[in-house]
Amino acid sequence: MKNTKTDSAIPSASLESLADLPEWLEFEQAARTARVDPSRLALINAAGIELDLSGQHTSPALEKAGAALLKARDFAGHRRLLLEGGIVNVTEGRGAWHTALRAPAPAPDIAAERQRLFEFIHTADSERRWRNIVHIGIGGSDWGVRLAVAAFGYAGTWRNVHFVANIDGHAIQGGLSGFDPRETLIVMASKSFTTAETLENGLRAREWLEAAGVQDPASQMIAITARPDTALKWGIPEAHIFKLWDWVGGRFSLWSAVSLTTALAVSADVIAGMQMGAAAMDNHFAEAPIAENAPVQMALSGVVNRSVLGYGSLNIAPYDFRLANLVPYIQQLEMESLGKSVDLSGRPVKIPTGPAVWGMPGTDAQHTFFQWLHQGSDGAPVDFIVCAQADHAWPQHHRILLANCLAQRQALSQGKSYEDALALCLTSGVEPERAKWLAHHRVYGGGRPSNLIVLPRLSPYTLGALLALYEHKVFVQGLIWGINPFDQWGVEYGKQLASGLTRQLAGELEMCESYDASTRYWVDRLKDGTD
Ligand code: F6P
Repeated sequence: MKNTKTDSAIPSASLESLADLPEWLEFEQAARTARVDPSRLALINAAGIELDLSGQHTSPALEKAGAALLKARDFAGHRRLLLEGGIVNVTEGRGAWHTALRAPAPAPDIAAERQRLFEFIHTADSERRWRNIVHIGIGGSDWGVRLAVAAFGYAGTWRNVHFVANIDGHAIQGGLSGFDPRETLIVMASKSFTTAETLENGLRAREWLEAAGVQDPASQMIAITARPDTALKWGIPEAHIFKLWDWVGGRFSLWSAVSLTTALAVSADVIAGMQMGAAAMDNHFAEAPIAENAPVQMALSGVVNRSVLGYGSLNIAPYDFRLANLVPYIQQLEMESLGKSVDLSGRPVKIPTGPAVWGMPGTDAQHTFFQWLHQGSDGAPVDFIVCAQADHAWPQHHRILLANCLAQRQALSQGKSYEDALALCLTSGVEPERAKWLAHHRVYGGGRPSNLIVLPRLSPYTLGALLALYEHKVFVQGLIWGINPFDQWGVEYGKQLASGLTRQLAGELEMCESYDASTRYWVDRLKDGTD
């Protein structure tokens, strides 16, 4: 294992500022003249997922420049470092070895923890224990589990699950309500076991168990953490603590025991299937040549869209109701990873980095914000995600869903010219003078980039592969921009300020003179509401 802490491991090829690299200038130039080619079908099959990149700007020069840029960034060397558990998270001096957690033949300590987890699940299932689960965790300790439970438990399961992430007391109030405390397991997922939201919500849950007369509340609580000692001190018994490793980033912890709730809510097969699918994508990422490497090609077109064409955001449009939580999941993955503008040498990147990520499942999204995507002044690239086969009994629903997905994509890409819009107005009987005016409103610019990602059907395997596709894409983009996709210093500062302000609101700490006038006013004004 190479993931021991050291301060000296700064990958040298990433130190070069991107803006100064001749390979970047070539790439940028080629990207400016590349176009969406409607006659091109650009398909890549990766771990059973079909990625259609036909809707992206392309040209032979751009393909060549992309490969040269990756070479200049020593892509092969960094990919090896990542997959071998080397120190890729240089600002925190550790690896980001989530791939080790899903390896088919994991290291003995990982295998042993997996075994402990499966034994716990097996006992709970065979004894039909825990009718209710309250999963307490936030960010990476929440979204992946929510995603998997919604994706595979959407039709209901014999256990009821509530998720509590937010510090807003209404969240824990709702999370505990309706459940019989004697039949409820509280799962606290926190890599650091210091996250204020999770610890406070955990305390409320413990009080709730105590208030119901549960003799040994800790026996109904589980902790999943990289700090077992802290969880132990907090009061969770050793046998109820599952281990996370320091080298698993919070937003990658879905691959660890954090998925206990998924297994209890749906099935342990879901975790195993997702791990297999993700491992297949890891394999593809490790071995496929650049031109056929799905995460790499997605990364390159994403860099074109963000850093050359200037799109400030990326829209995620899963045409699958079960994947609603994919949007916040990818939002955290991409924005926490790539929301940085200082490169590894400590200098500003000077080139726009990670886009804002947003979205909603189609077809709801079409009736919410697609107008903006089609005719708004900015627009955004879209990742359309759909399953070839549905798992319900109504083919006409799936046909309409697929048609909508393809239609939106086609409209964004092909657009509609003024002449076509005019002809349409005239054939629908609009009077000529009005038609000439109206046609302007019915023009679609077109040329808006998109990906189409097709899963054969939604299974744990395909979802695992899909998540790993995005993870590796993010890694490659971090490498190109020269930023560290595995830290999140920005979030830390806000946490620090919030902890001081909490004490000021409680009157335990003097007001800080360096606060702006507005913050000082509001602390004073809002104090009473927290008594
Ligand atoms: O939002 C910041 C963050 O550190 C995420 O990276 C992480 O997923 C989340 O907080 C929760 O952290 P923890 O699992 O340590 O409670």
